Amino acid sequence: MAHTRTAIIAGNWKMNYGLKQAREFVQEILPALEQVVASYPHILSILCPPAISLETVHAILSEKPVPHIELGAQNMYFEEKGAFTGEISPLMVRELCSTVILGHSERRTYFGESDEQVNKKTLAALIHGLRPIVCIGENLEQYEMGETGEVIHTQIKGSLANLPTQQAQEIVIAYEPIWAIGTGKAATGEGAGKVVHLIRHLYGEMYGSEAAASLRILYGGSVTSGNISEFIAHPDIDGALVGGASIKADFVEIARKMVETMTQVVG
Ligand code: 13P
Repeated sequence: MAHTRTAIIAGNWKMNYGLKQAREFVQEILPALEQVVASYPHILSILCPPAISLETVHAILSEKPVPHIELGAQNMYFEEKGAFTGEISPLMVRELCSTVILGHSERRTYFGESDEQVNKKTLAALIHGLRPIVCIGENLEQYEMGETGEVIHTQIKGSLANLPTQQAQEIVIAYEPIWAIGTGKAATGEGAGKVVHLIRHLYGEMYGSEAAASLRILYGGSVTSGNISEFIAHPDIDGALVGGASIKADFVEIARKMVETMTQVVG
């Protein structure tokens, strides 16, 4: 990864760990995670527990703030307040989080989120000073039919339309091929790298080369401490959005391996 961009290791806990388990898990991993992020100047770790556990994790992180460990939500609605039962608003997320994951494939698949909705949420996040991690990626059928490029193109143009130019570089994109999520079948560093390169190119067409050069693009899909080096060694990949392994101690090991590889690559 190019060392001009700060690397991100984010953990998407999905629907795991309520208050007690979230507290116990964060207390378990935090000392080692703090050490890892403190050992490299250009790394940021973002923990994304379920909404109900955000405050608990926030309280632990606030006891002794570590500048490179932040909190993120897994979703939010784009309206600021009102009659939207079950939703949380950007203003609420902002009270606890720096970041919000948007358009995850599970939200697109199980809850019918469209590129248009993801776009509204992305714009709302930027307006409220949140860092959006916008997820895109093709499914198995599209992958096998060789349609990855087309799918990525449609998702980027749709989900990331009309961004204010001066904020275009605050976006983080996570390339998560759906066939690699939770399957144990990760993409290869080379395969993911090609798609990530395409994403950067398409983003450059939309917002110019400067925004594209600063854009952070993460890989997600069956990332473990065993394969993270392969991804982070690719010059276009700036980190990972980790699912299953983010609710285990392996998350710290992934961060450690990432730092190790970046130190070798960057020198
Ligand atoms: P896994 O790491 O469990 O494959 O999940 C990836 C993911 O969906 C992260 O958002």
